Amino acid sequence: MNILETPALQAFVACAHNGWLQGWHERNGGNLSYRMTAGEAQLCCPCFDESGPWLPLGVEAPGLANAYFIVTGTNRYFQNIKEKPEENIGVAQLSETGDAWRIVWGLTVGHMPTSEFPTHILNHAVRAAATGGRSRVIYHAHPVDVVALTFVLPVTAKAFSRALWQAMTECVVIFPEGVGAVPWMVCGGAEVARATAREMERFAAVIWGQHGIFCAGENFDSTFGMMHAIDKAAQILLKVMAAGRPVLQTITDDNLRAIGEAFGLEINEEFLDGSAAFH
Ligand code: 13P
Ligand code: ZN
Repeated sequence: MNILETPALQAFVACAHNGWLQGWHERNGGNLSYRMTAGEAQLCCPCFDESGPWLPLGVEAPGLANAYFIVTGTNRYFQNIKEKPEENIGVAQLSETGDAWRIVWGLTVGHMPTSEFPTHILNHAVRAAATGGRSRVIYHAHPVDVVALTFVLPVTAKAFSRALWQAMTECVVIFPEGVGAVPWMVCGGAEVARATAREMERFAAVIWGQHGIFCAGENFDSTFGMMHAIDKAAQILLKVMAAGRPVLQTITDDNLRAIGEAFGLEINEEFLDGSAAFH
């Protein structure tokens, strides 16, 4: 069998390529991981080489022991994933103790998963717990307008949630709990992984100050869609801020509550305090 013809690998490659087409992945920017189902791992098993060494993850996720993840490689370019998947993505298995990994397929160049693998794994752990095991995708990207907004809005969950909700009507439907935020930190280690995972306990999307965004979801479409919606709302906000005209009307908190009622959503009341999200 050809692992690249399995639906999970095909969907992974398609998602990564769509991110490249959006302009979210300069050079090696961004990374993507998918927690395989037991059935998917079993299907791909004939292609796995389990003789590689275990390497320390730097964080622990005992709840995900032995799980398999499709993951992008460190310093690999999203641009090239579609043409040469086995060089740029791979399958990594987590150890029995959940604190080490080994590559069982792919990543034939570099032989290392993304430097944000600790953040991906901790995010998988908390999102799986938050969703009864349904969350499977963690996606990190560098959308220009989201990053630009982190220079002019406070990098807090409340400020970003309110601004994004007010920018585009659909936002509160897509993320009624809001988005999380982590002010600028050194990327690629255990510390940023823990800070991000703390936010992911409550939010499926987390903004990284002056860097990018992490999104989590049950499948590639919903995770990519979340990234896309947040990016679009950020574009609207920046255009409004640059319009050189006072903001005459926006989406009010009562409007947001009305959407909640109409769609049967529980909107995070903590963030509905009537304050102006942007000027
Ligand atoms: P990697 O090449 O290690 O995936 O890093 C890219 C990135 O976006 C770091 O935050
Ligand atoms: Zn990054």
